[in-house]
Amino acid sequence: MSGANAVKEDRLWQRHADMAKLGGTPKGGVNRQALSPEDAAARNQLARWAKMRGFAVFTDAIGNLFVRKDGTDAAAAPVMSGSHMDSQPTGGRFDGMYGVLAAFEALEALEDAGVTTRRPVMAVAWTNEEGSRFQPGAMGSAVFAGAYRLDEMLEQKDWKGVVLRDALADTLKAAPAPLREGAPGFAVDSYIEAHIEQGPRLENERKTIGVVTAIQGSRRYIVTIDGEEAHAGTTPRAARKDAYAAATRLAAALYEATADAHDMLRFTIGRVEVSPGSPNTVPGKVTFTIDMRHPDDAVLVEREAMIERLLVEKTKPCSASLQKVTNVPPTNFDPAVIDLVRAKASGLGLSNMDMPSGAGHDAMHIARLCPAGMIFVPCERGISHNEIENATPSDLAAGTRVLVEVLEALANR
Ligand code: GLV
Ligand code: MN
Ligand code: MN
Repeated sequence: MSGANAVKEDRLWQRHADMAKLGGTPKGGVNRQALSPEDAAARNQLARWAKMRGFAVFTDAIGNLFVRKDGTDAAAAPVMSGSHMDSQPTGGRFDGMYGVLAAFEALEALEDAGVTTRRPVMAVAWTNEEGSRFQPGAMGSAVFAGAYRLDEMLEQKDWKGVVLRDALADTLKAAPAPLREGAPGFAVDSYIEAHIEQGPRLENERKTIGVVTAIQGSRRYIVTIDGEEAHAGTTPRAARKDAYAAATRLAAALYEATADAHDMLRFTIGRVEVSPGSPNTVPGKVTFTIDMRHPDDAVLVEREAMIERLLVEKTKPCSASLQKVTNVPPTNFDPAVIDLVRAKASGLGLSNMDMPSGAGHDAMHIARLCPAGMIFVPCERGISHNEIENATPSDLAAGTRVLVEVLEALANR
């Protein structure tokens, strides 16, 4: 039996159902934010499954969790596949988790089929991909790839002031795994990540597999507007430095300035905090986040300069500042890996199309370390970052069969 034929659709689907219970929400989604008790529960679950199959499990100093199926050449660098198990606060059951479970299913399928590979094959769950609790996102893969510094990431705080170092220690205490000493990162031969598309193209075009060619560039910022707290009943308009009024002027100008004719630029204000948050005090401070993405980095550079201009123009008499939280340039995946994904999908008789990714993924950092690529499968109506996110068991299994064939080919190079 081939590895791809040993992929078990039911087993893969059941594993999604089991994981969806960890942080499950009443609306059928998950709230399993990075380094939360729910994240720890998912880590324990994956480690339990791995140990039952006799695969080695270990973690690193940023909490990335690795599962290893040995190859015949102990000295050979592994091929790796995975994604993330953390979710948005109102996330779906498949974003990230599919990539981890597809990688794990690939290991199991290879084992079940009795397939040996020259290189080890590894599954990985990267720490904090979403970046909704701790900024910046795709943190574990970025530290692994040397793009972010471990010591700086350990000092990051969530919105409540919890320090990542403490949340990570709590998580690893609740979900212990052997620690790989030293700075995160080791030689990887190649990396391939499976993910739901998170957009509507595959469904609209009736294709099963997205052969991912690139990921668009993305930048995230925190805007801080400082005004002056004052009594809501007594302070005349001319005497106010209302930080929220300034924020709304700025936001309106930003939406207008980022609406391009081709609808290519993605601009989102996803989190707003108004301080002190009292109905009868003029807000003295507002912070809001900006998430901005485009396939062409030059556009992001130019739009960033525009944000800085509008920040000054629109917020008087308050003052405003811009903190850049992330800047990930566009990623072009390895042409040989792209060709391999396309060839394996076609070889399995699966309809496929080349496409870039609008969403960010851990693969964007690992692609700077080794040849990398991605496999997309459709999700219902393209909806993601939403509790109703959905995908079919057969599409998930189809993507996993492609993954197995790609991993096998890479692992025998
Ligand atoms: C990942 O969820 C992203 O924001 O693209
Ligand atoms: Mn994801
Ligand atoms: Mn996501």
